Amino acid sequence: MTSLAIDLPMPPMQLRIMKEDDEALVRSGTSLARLMMERGLKADGTLLDVGSCYGRLPLGLLAGTDFHGTYIGFDVLRKQVRWCKRSLTPVAPNFRFHHIDVRNDRYNPSGTVDPLEVRFPAKIGSIDTISLFSIFTHFYRADIEHYLGEFKRVLKPGGIAVTTWFVYDDARLPLIQSDASVYPMIYELDAHTRYNDPDDPLRAIAFEESLVRSMVEAAGLEIVTIDRGTWCGEPGTIFQDLIILRRPGALKDRVRARLGHVKRRVQRTVEARRARRSS
Ligand SMILES: C[S@@+](CC[C@H](N)C(=O)[O-])C[C@H]1O[C@@H](n2cnc3c(N)ncnc32)[C@H](O)[C@@H]1O
Repeated sequence: MTSLAIDLPMPPMQLRIMKEDDEALVRSGTSLARLMMERGLKADGTLLDVGSCYGRLPLGLLAGTDFHGTYIGFDVLRKQVRWCKRSLTPVAPNFRFHHIDVRNDRYNPSGTVDPLEVRFPAKIGSIDTISLFSIFTHFYRADIEHYLGEFKRVLKPGGIAVTTWFVYDDARLPLIQSDASVYPMIYELDAHTRYNDPDDPLRAIAFEESLVRSMVEAAGLEIVTIDRGTWCGEPGTIFQDLIILRRPGALKDRVRARLGHVKRRVQRTVEARRARRSS
């Protein structure tokens, strides 16, 4: 492993809920940041980071990419957000952080804002890309539905959201309950939801893929890709399941894309006929 040059403020250890050292924090932040760039974040784009915590993704963007757009992060943890505001914004004024005191049974049980009342700190149609890492793995269904509605509100047409989940279908069900899973999803919350810890359901919660698809569709979004993670013992390169969502483009963009598709098909057919005639 090569060592990363860390010339950035580092959060104090007591704020790091994952307890990693500086090297591991910057390394994992950098891999998330590069994943964001691979999945469509532009260096000068506008990024909304849902659940920015103690700044893993922003540290990675600053340490490992040429991102120079606008970063907006928010989280329910007051001290972590305060550290990001006081330490990261002065070195990168295009990185801004907001605290919203949303209730979450695991992270902020005495929060004063109902999760169903949350408004993301961004205007309608102003965001190119959303990141949401390891958040829906700690949310109940109704809260996810509301957050997906906020995605639709703040994303530009054609904008994308890079999100992680624990998902399953009938084929995966035995595996997610087994000891091969890092979080054996033994307990059933309802017909489409399972969880790992009876004392703390939001420690790790999994949703049936069909439910995820219907929540995404109901929010007026579409699924671009689903890449399965290794969390339940399947092979792969990422830990949680990675789902890329998109706010459909404006009607004229969709019509243009459809016309382009039809034109390419006609061209291919014409070329194939020509090739057959000349052979
Ligand atoms: C496992 S941490 C992941 C943090 C960060 N996304 C990362 O990958 O490093 C989960 C985060 O979700 C945040 N969180 C919990 N409820 C939230 C909510 N309703 N809205 C936004 N963030 C929330 C927690 O405060 C915590 O920072």
